[in-house]
Amino acid sequence: MKKILETDRLYLRQFIKGDTLDLFQLNNNPEVLRFTGDVPFTSSQETQAFIDHYFKNVYYNPTNGAPTHLGRLAVMRKTDHVFLGWCGLKFNSTINAVDLGFRFHQYFWNRGFATESARKVIEYAFRELKLIQLIAHAHINNKASQVVLIKCGFTEKEQIIYDNQPTLLYYLKNTEFELREITAAETWPVRHPVLRKNRPLEDVYMESDEKESTFHLGVFHNSKIVGVASFMEDTHPDFSGFQSRLRGMAVLDEYRKKGIARWLLEHGEKILKNRNRSLLWFNARANALSFYKNLGYKMTSEEFHISQVGPHYTMKKEL
Ligand SMILES: CC(C)(COP(=O)(O)OP(=O)(O)OC[C@H]1O[C@@H](n2cnc3c(N)ncnc32)[C@H](O)[C@@H]1OP(=O)(O)O)[C@@H](O)C(=O)NCCC(=O)NCCS
Repeated sequence: MKKILETDRLYLRQFIKGDTLDLFQLNNNPEVLRFTGDVPFTSSQETQAFIDHYFKNVYYNPTNGAPTHLGRLAVMRKTDHVFLGWCGLKFNSTINAVDLGFRFHQYFWNRGFATESARKVIEYAFRELKLIQLIAHAHINNKASQVVLIKCGFTEKEQIIYDNQPTLLYYLKNTEFELREITAAETWPVRHPVLRKNRPLEDVYMESDEKESTFHLGVFHNSKIVGVASFMEDTHPDFSGFQSRLRGMAVLDEYRKKGIARWLLEHGEKILKNRNRSLLWFNARANALSFYKNLGYKMTSEEFHISQVGPHYTMKKEL
């Protein structure tokens, strides 16, 4: 049993087999389930499957492969080790976002435990895991949950249907991250180690870098540049329309799988649309194919080889 987080009154740890009864009881209280869209567990095996699922919900640090817990955690009271409920994170692959959630035994409501544990989980998500933002869901009538989220700094985004329930979607940005337009030279601390590793520094230069129509975007973490992308006017002979080309998309190893490349690309697309560009294309490295496909880009070529880099495919998207 590993303690992950600690607050004044609480500690948060991974679930253990001994939590089965508590989780079973938690999910059998109609008051607890009133706004969650869940149904009670029908057996202890189902409860165990829930525990196993969260045990597997681990986030792997892309640099050293070290597992970091990214799952719901049991919230325990320090004084007597009583299981109060759970609070924690969950990666939602459908919308590519990490969700904050919590649920407590009714007996422990209105004592500030949800806010205290949620604040600690947010600090962990932003400081340790360096996630760029969190989302959260609350049923439109679940005022208590909404108050907790607002006290934690979340902002209401929109009303959606989630788990078949009318739900408010909230989000909270990690203010340690910032995206802004940068110069070509500012891209080099990321372009060089990621895209031109073991090559001379001058290899980072791209021919359209300084053109007036080119723009470069950078994501900064506490003033350190961690992700870059460049958008250049360039006409591909196979495509028509007012085209732009993406070049130099790169994120430092230790900042990958947090949505930084997606943020850069989506922001770039917005700027291009405002500038009336109709198509964005690029030559994608084979290892980044699925990332681009998931953002709506289509392959338009067979595999081809770029010297010193490796296999590539041309991809495009109408804007
Ligand atoms: C390709 C590259 C730019 C992607 O950068 P990134 O910031 O890791 O990209 P994102 O985090 O936006 O998305 C990557 C994946 O992480 C997932 N992800 C996003 N947030 C996540 C989170 N909080 N937890 C877990 N996974 C997450 C996304 O679903 C995505 O999955 P997919 O690849 O299956 O679509 C980066 O790997 C890189 O620099 N590679 C080397 C250079 C390169 O290949 N550049 C592209 C040249 S064409």
